[in-house]
Amino acid sequence: MGVLLIGPEADLQVKAVTRELEKRGVETALWDASSWPGDVPATVRHVGDQTSVSVADTEEIPAEYHTIYLRQLGFDARYPEFESELDERPLSVINQIREYRGLLLSAVKRLQDEGVRVINPPEAMSIHDLKPWQLSTLSAAGVPVPETCSTNDPDEVRTFANRVEDVIYKPVTGGGHAHRLEKDDLEDERLTRLANSPVQFQERIDGDDVRVFVVDGEAVAAARIVSDALDYRSVEHDVERIPLDSLDPEIERAACRAATQLELPFTGVDVIDGSDRFVVLEANPSPMFATFDELAGTRVADELAAFLADP
Ligand SMILES: Nc1ncnc2c1ncn2[C@@H]1O[C@H](COP(=O)(O)OP(=O)(O)OP(=O)(O)O)[C@@H](O)[C@H]1O
Ligand SMILES: [Mg+2]
Repeated sequence: MGVLLIGPEADLQVKAVTRELEKRGVETALWDASSWPGDVPATVRHVGDQTSVSVADTEEIPAEYHTIYLRQLGFDARYPEFESELDERPLSVINQIREYRGLLLSAVKRLQDEGVRVINPPEAMSIHDLKPWQLSTLSAAGVPVPETCSTNDPDEVRTFANRVEDVIYKPVTGGGHAHRLEKDDLEDERLTRLANSPVQFQERIDGDDVRVFVVDGEAVAAARIVSDALDYRSVEHDVERIPLDSLDPEIERAACRAATQLELPFTGVDVIDGSDRFVVLEANPSPMFATFDELAGTRVADELAAFLADP
């Protein structure tokens, strides 16, 4: 019995976990999320009261694989591979993506119903797009989060900016960079553009970006991102491992609590560690960790593989 991985073959996380599982002698298989749309077969069949799933060359999954590592199902219209086709025939591409997603997600959920453990479960994966809900769930559980207002209403933004001195804004669903809210941003002309799409406005917290990886309820690694930029991802940055015995125990507890509240057996929790307080920004349901392991010497792939390997 082994572990099935779902994600693009070239993904660094998929590669690192496969390597660590193989080191442990665990059998692995991959549903390469980059093979679809394409001619790699995927079928869910119902005959009488029996349902069976066969995808790529994996059959008999419940018998052969006790666990799935769901790194990435794919089928997101924002991926660059869909760009040119989206220009030409947007509606049919969006429908095709939906159809593939519906089939493959059904396959994963069917396997889950049959007792295959899925890390992270599909329901938990979807919270990545629900950042306002994440923040409300975390704050209700006593995890400190920044003051935030997610809105498409210019008046709400002005009220927020009057009350909170230093404000950043970023997408509600992630995937963009955080920017400082400037005076010009509060002009009518600029704020009316909120009608196109709501935005997350948030109190800026001055401090270090810290990432805490949690596996099965326990912190297994932590790192500090070394950068002077507001959003470290916009520039080259370095990462430094924080040995777990020198991680602030309050931060460790908050990260574990975030993982539990959001029902994430595996997560990377983003924290800003300021001089007088810390806040949790989000818990990522499919965090990237390969670069942390490489640059900071953390051993997240190893810890995750140990968890996946043990049914
Ligand atoms: N309130 C804030 N104060 C200061 N810096 C922030 C704040 N919010 C975000 N940042 C900076 O931007 C980075 C990204 O923010 P965050 O993780 O909240 O959302 P996101 O990364 O856009 O979402 P995703 O990871 O899903 O793409 C943070 O790691 C931090 O460097
Ligand atoms: Mg983030």
